[in-house]
Amino acid sequence: MDVLSNVIYLIASVLFILGLMKLSSPKTARVGNLYAMLGMFLAIVITLLDKHIIDFTYIIAGIIIGGAIGAIAAKKVEMTQMPQMVALFNGFGGIASTFVAYAEYVNTNHTVGGTDVVISLILSLLIGTVTFTGSMVAFLKLQGIMPGRPIVFKGQMTLNALILIATAGLGWYFGMDTLNGELYLLIIVGIAAVLGVTSVIPIGGADMPVVISLLNSYSGLAAAATGFVLSNNVLIISGALVGASGIILTQIMCVAMNRSLTNVLFGAVGTDSGTAASGGEQRTVTRYTADDAAMIFENAESVIIVPGYGLAVAQAQHVMHELMQLLEKRGIEVRFAIHPVAGRMPGHMNVLLAEANVPYDKLVEMDEINDDFASTDVALVVGANDVINPAARYKKDSPLYGMPILNVDQAQRVMIIKRSLATGFAGEDNELFYDDKTMMLFGDAKGMLTDLNKILKEDE
Ligand code: TAP
Repeated sequence: MDVLSNVIYLIASVLFILGLMKLSSPKTARVGNLYAMLGMFLAIVITLLDKHIIDFTYIIAGIIIGGAIGAIAAKKVEMTQMPQMVALFNGFGGIASTFVAYAEYVNTNHTVGGTDVVISLILSLLIGTVTFTGSMVAFLKLQGIMPGRPIVFKGQMTLNALILIATAGLGWYFGMDTLNGELYLLIIVGIAAVLGVTSVIPIGGADMPVVISLLNSYSGLAAAATGFVLSNNVLIISGALVGASGIILTQIMCVAMNRSLTNVLFGAVGTDSGTAASGGEQRTVTRYTADDAAMIFENAESVIIVPGYGLAVAQAQHVMHELMQLLEKRGIEVRFAIHPVAGRMPGHMNVLLAEANVPYDKLVEMDEINDDFASTDVALVVGANDVINPAARYKKDSPLYGMPILNVDQAQRVMIIKRSLATGFAGEDNELFYDDKTMMLFGDAKGMLTDLNKILKEDE
């Protein structure tokens, strides 16, 4: 049975790796998910059989209740609420590792194996609990239940450092006498819960997606540590995969935002999404209408659409796809330029447009499309702001400085659909709104695109 379970674990691990590989392209992502699901199914079944868990009542009840909650959440949760849902999932993953590791300690009558297992147990409790409380704070911030602004107090960093030192000390004492060490473990769980809160409250609500990705990585590390406690290979491998992919994603997001992870974690920067007040001098812009935009499209041959966070907020992806089809019917070449950090989560625009069945080959990454703006008739920006802000190129004191942007300003004509002149996530004014070649189409993205589509249909 031991050999069989290890072979199945190996197959499950290979399926996880293949699943991750396939997830790297939207075309194969669904298959990737299926691979990973199959891997998880095999791992669960063989674990249940191998461990001779005879009474399946609780397990079946758990699967039904958990499955129902998951299914309802997947159906109900809006795309813009995805970051907080992932935060909840990470948090539960973390606390599950804490519970399992602790249960193993109790189950084995406090006889923990060697030093390696002691260290794994302590790490599992620490990281699992930090992940749980940290993720809960992230969820509350993103859901608007807690203020999104950074919450800082004097001595915060010192407190965090002291908690880590105390954990190491308590872990040491626990290792000396594991049979009577239960209290040490409980104290570790208690102070780790505080550490989770104090590490996440200083981070601004809009930086939360980066933190969630980091917490995702932590949840994997906690699972891997628990795998060592249980001597369970598949848990070690899958935890390590989650830990590694989470940290890679965190790094990609930081690079794309031109921020260091230290700056995100300790910089206490970030404003509530899209609400930052506009700073600079008062300038005026001309308000254009959907009719004006339709007239420009009459003579256009090529259009690049730049989707941003506002497209997701307005849930305008379906009308966006319809506009693409209407323009293509007129013989216009239409493509979408995808900035790596457009929206509020990695791949946000890809997922959003895929939901509306926009063909994948219409979505072009920033590096591939940036040189084409200069030879494009119209750049149509829908609910994007920071990712097209020229201040990123030269304004040294701007939070955007150094972030690569889409070269929208090089197109012959620029149309921007948004509700006002308000700034985006970074709180930086955008001079492109005032450019002579820019047409500001003020309004909700869905409403404006619907109007535009109506006019284009009437003109057919
Ligand atoms: P933003 O710069 O945040 O701008 C979005 C714009 O959408 C806002 O200026 C807002 O202007 C407009 N908007 C909001 N609701 C709208 C609606 N219903 N209809 C039309 N427009 C609407 O978005 P972006 O250009 O996508 O840039 C993303 C930013 O988020 C970057 O700074 C990035 O660093 C940051 N960020 C990204 C991620 C990831 S992983 N994607 C994670 C964390 C942070 P109005 O209020 O005037 O309408």
